[in-house]
Amino acid sequence: MVNDFSSCYSVSRQVRAQQKNQRPMCIWLTGLSGSGKSTLSTQLEQVLHARGLHTMVLDGDIVRQGLCRDLGMSDADRSENIRRVAEVARLMVEAGLIVIVALISPFRKDRQAARELFAEGEFLEVFVDAPLETCSARDPKGLYAKVRSGQIKNFTGVDSPYEAPEHPDVHIRSAENDVVACVQSILGRMGLRDVQ
Ligand code: ADX
Repeated sequence: MVNDFSSCYSVSRQVRAQQKNQRPMCIWLTGLSGSGKSTLSTQLEQVLHARGLHTMVLDGDIVRQGLCRDLGMSDADRSENIRRVAEVARLMVEAGLIVIVALISPFRKDRQAARELFAEGEFLEVFVDAPLETCSARDPKGLYAKVRSGQIKNFTGVDSPYEAPEHPDVHIRSAENDVVACVQSILGRMGLRDVQ
């Protein structure tokens, strides 16, 4: 882990986690726009919350309205977006939370840098995998239509790259499985498969 904070605080991360009776971690959802990251993060959080676990979701569409509102969609701005969210997620894990991040996070090096902020086993990379054609057909925000009409440039998967994870901790095929099954596979990897 980069910069271990343990000597900086009088209440340790272990004590904070114990108080919540949970194992803090960062669940990092990566995938194309429209692949299902936000839907999955919402469902996963509801299941965890119902079980009495303390969670937080950091979603690209939300953080880009505040923490990252100065950033655009260039490669450099996306890297900075991911760096900031990873640092916030890391602080939240330090605080004892289960943090669910939903960002396209298209570049492997940025996801790897995020992973390196966390201790072993504390970071799970979840690849929310759906074919571009499926995402484009779903088009929940009408963005792919704007891409086709030339109103949006540098769109991930179209004219901006998406580097798929080579060894994700969880590989979700969201076009082939329903949301409940996808959530269950993440819970399984978290060691919480029996959570309903
Ligand atoms: S990331 O690349 O920096 O990780 P992030 O997940 O924060 O992206 O934001 C992606 C969201 O911004 C998409 O879900 C979509 O709603 C919107 N968006 C706007 N322009 C683009 C674009 N050019 N490429 C991808 N997403 C875009």
